[in-house]
Amino acid sequence: MKYLIGALAIIGLGVVGAILYSYSGIYDVAATQPHTRVGAWFLDNTMHHSVRARADDIEVPEDLQQRVTRGAEHFRETCVPCHGAPGTHGEAGGDMRPEPPPLRAAAEEWEPNEVFWIVKHGIKMTAMPSFAALHSDDEIWDIVAFVEQLPDMSPERYAQLTGSGTPDVRHSVFGREDPEQVKSDPEVTLPNTEKPAEKDQSGRQ
Ligand code: HEC
Repeated sequence: MKYLIGALAIIGLGVVGAILYSYSGIYDVAATQPHTRVGAWFLDNTMHHSVRARADDIEVPEDLQQRVTRGAEHFRETCVPCHGAPGTHGEAGGDMRPEPPPLRAAAEEWEPNEVFWIVKHGIKMTAMPSFAALHSDDEIWDIVAFVEQLPDMSPERYAQLTGSGTPDVRHSVFGREDPEQVKSDPEVTLPNTEKPAEKDQSGRQ
């Protein structure tokens, strides 16, 4: 009984301490500061076990090999700005904490069903978004098929598959069109950037 009361007291103190720490403002959330080693381990370990537990029942389509070419375009549009690709690195990724890792390594570490789960659902409290709203399951499997090829992909092969070796942002990764970015890509013509703002009476665009 004595031990039980002691154990409960320690747990209680731990909880109160954690709440006080949360209110204290001591923790630095700046992305310019790397995670502490303990913090990084805790988040990474939690993420790995969470993904594995949830991806376990997902069945990988048998035609994964035939999806690689279709996945290339989606990959270039949506993943490269953060994660980079063979021969190029993501412009935005370096300033994020945690940093988006190169997907060449991720493809070796994760099974295809796990990559599917990550892309579909995203990862909370990181910059990794969910792509479920913008992509069907079918399209996500195309992307997974492409990611699976990354460990052996040379920059030349990447350029060949995607038609370009450079990262670009054709549609914003978050689903909002950024006309400035889209206009800067000469391959892309967006109907609504060519028309004058005729509908808007206020003169704003
Ligand atoms: C806005 C930036 C951003 C975009 C766009 C993005 N990711 Fe991520 N991604 C991240 C970040 C940040 C992490 C690291 C999360 C972590 O460490 O818990 C991550 C993690 C991952 C991981 C797990 C890697 C590992 O080993 O920890 C995979 C797999 C992944 N992303 C795949 C993709 C794919 C495929 C796409 C394109 C469909 C994509 N991501 C688009 C930011 C992004």
